[in-house]
This record gives sequence, structure tokens and C-alpha cells, in this order.
Amino acid sequence: MKEILILGGTQFVGRHLSESLLAESKLQVTLFHRGRTHPQLFPEYRHLLGDRETDSIRQVLRRDWDAVIDFSGYYPQSLSALAQALTGRVGRYLYISSISAYDFEQLPEDTVWTESGPTLPCTPEQAEDRSMFSYGERKAACERALLALPELNPVVFRPGLIYGPYDPTDRFYYWLWRTRHAEKMLVPADLSVPFQWTYALDFAAILRQALLGEQPKESVYQVLTHAPLAFGEMLTRLEEQAQRTVRRVPISPRQMEEHDVKWWQDLPLTTPSPRLFDRSRYQRDFQSPETPFVATLETTWRWYAQQGWPTPKTGLDVEQERILLSKLGIH
Ligand SMILES: NC(=O)c1ccc[n+]([C@@H]2O[C@H](COP(=O)([O-])OP(=O)(O)OC[C@H]3O[C@@H](n4cnc5c(N)ncnc54)[C@H](OP(=O)(O)O)[C@@H]3O)[C@@H](O)[C@H]2O)c1
Repeated sequence: MKEILILGGTQFVGRHLSESLLAESKLQVTLFHRGRTHPQLFPEYRHLLGDRETDSIRQVLRRDWDAVIDFSGYYPQSLSALAQALTGRVGRYLYISSISAYDFEQLPEDTVWTESGPTLPCTPEQAEDRSMFSYGERKAACERALLALPELNPVVFRPGLIYGPYDPTDRFYYWLWRTRHAEKMLVPADLSVPFQWTYALDFAAILRQALLGEQPKESVYQVLTHAPLAFGEMLTRLEEQAQRTVRRVPISPRQMEEHDVKWWQDLPLTTPSPRLFDRSRYQRDFQSPETPFVATLETTWRWYAQQGWPTPKTGLDVEQERILLSKLGIH
């Protein structure tokens, strides 16, 4: 029996991975989590309950692990302490980082990023900061802490924005919901800006291979599961799925500033300029499902339909958007 430890495993990509391991008879899977996020899931697995930022993480030191996969590491000091304590007791350590670890300011806007792109520095204050402002810096520092311990056979994964069933953030869903329900919606004026995202199920399939297959050849992989797609193209695919059209009301960067509409936060997934990522490394080393965007959309759409199309909890709310539209002269 192989002993697998999942730090997390009950929310989103971790949950897809946990589900996909249920069919494996030769694995003993242990989930470590606080018991807050869907704790009733996976009664088939061993559960260790505790907060990894406290001493209760020491429960995972009671045995050796063939592989550890870490979805919940956000703080470099505690991650480093854990990794050091596990040295010599783990076959491989897979860590879920993010493209937010990159220092995007360092290279020109039109750079196609590869795994060797520079990552963010992290000050001692940022390392302990509990806000999202230091998220990328902390992820970068977590990566460095792990990669400094080659005995762990560490492998770092950097996904982009992740979307698909079980997404707790609703950022992609913001656009699905509007396409399904709205008559008109605010969109960025330049719809030609291309994006790349990460489909949760394809990412989970890659992680599964990294966990159960041969030790991956490289220690860092960025995983963006789509070729670049223009934002407007994405909206068109959504409309085709919905079989309806929504009037798109463009808002220029100047009007966004004027009305305090924030990229990414108020209009989820939008950025003023493209960020493009090379995909050749993970495609070379893993059998990636590469599910076509339209098929990922169908699955995601179906899942939200099963949930009853709840109101998205991120981005502009409907009333805020209505007020903005009327300020822009659209009634
Ligand atoms: N969503 C995105 O677009 C995106 C993009 C790039 C990278 N990522 C990365 O993806 C990872 C999260 O992925 P996921 O949500 O798919 O993982 P997941 O494993 O499905 O869910 C997160 C798990 O971590 C547990 N957890 C959280 N804080 C904990 C703590 N202090 N102590 C112990 N357990 C804790 C949660 O359970 P309890 O709440 O019960 O503890 C839950 O089981 C993160 O590392 C994030 O940085 C996400």
C-alpha cells in the first residue's frame, strides 16, 4: 500500500484529486485539514484534523509518506518547518503554488512566461502578513523553501486562475451567471486581450500523474490548460452555450478609473494587458487531457445549473452594475 498525504483535499482541485483517487485500491490516502470545508467528504480516507499553522501539524510526522501533496501552504515559515521535519520521510513533495508567484514587473508585458521567469521577493513582514496583498510573495517564498530541500524531491506547480466545478471563488462564474441571466453587462472595452486559465479537472489529472507516476522530470511546472483566448471570444463561447446573447456595454480604462471599477476585482478575470504562458513543459512530461475550452464550459455550466444558479459572490453585484450602467447613460 502506498501512503499518500493530502494537505487539504476537500474544496476544489484538491477535492477533484481526492475523488479521482477513490478508485485506486493500492493507496492509503490521508487528508489533513481543519474540518471546516466539506468535512463530511471522503469517509473512505483517513482524516487528521488540525490547523497547519499550529502544532497540530505534527500529527503528520507520525508516519512516512510515499508522497505528499500540499494545497494549503500559504506561509513560508510554517511550510519550511514542516518540510524540514519531513525530510527523509517523504518520497516526493508536490506543492500547489500559483502564477501569482511571478514578478511580472521584471519583464516586458508581451513576455511569454516560462518556468524560469523571476519570482517575487518576500520580506519578513510579508512572510507573516495574513492579507491577500502578499499572497504572491508568500507563494514564491514557499516555493523557495521547498526547492531548497532536494531530499524531498519537491515539485512545484503554478496554475493560473482555476475554474470548473466546485470553484469556491465564483470569478469565472460571474460571467456564466451574467450570460445566463442578464440583459446587458459591463465588459472591458478591449475584448481582444487574450487570457489563459487552468481547468480544475485537467489540472487534477496532471497532479494525479505527478503523485502516482514516475518522479516528474522537472521541479517546477506552470500549468495553464488553454492556449490564449481573447476575452471577447470567451464571452461568445458562453453565449453559444447559453443560446442567448447579452448586450455588452464596453467600459474604457479611463471610465473604469473615473467610476472606481477595478480590474479583476469588480470585473473578474480582466486585466489591462495580457499575460501569456508557455505550456510546453507540462505538455511534454504529463499526459494532459487538454479538454477543449467548450467542453470545459459545458461541464462547468451543467454543474452550476445543478447548484441552481446561485448569485455570484464576487465582482460587481447586480445593483452596483445597474447604477454604473445608468451613469454611463445605459438604461
Ligand atoms: N483558485 C484559484 O484560482 C487558484 C489559482 C492558483 C493557485 N491556487 C492555489 O490552489 C490551492 C487551493 O486549492 P484548492 O482549494 O483546490 O485545494 P483543496 O485541497 O481542494 O482545498 C483547500 C484545503 O485546505 C484545507 N486548509 C485550508 N487552510 C488550512 C489550514 N490552515 N490548516 C489545515 N488545512 C487547511 C481546507 O480544509 P479546511 O478549511 O477544513 O481546513 C481544504 O481541504 C492554494 O494553494 C491556492 O494558492 C488557486
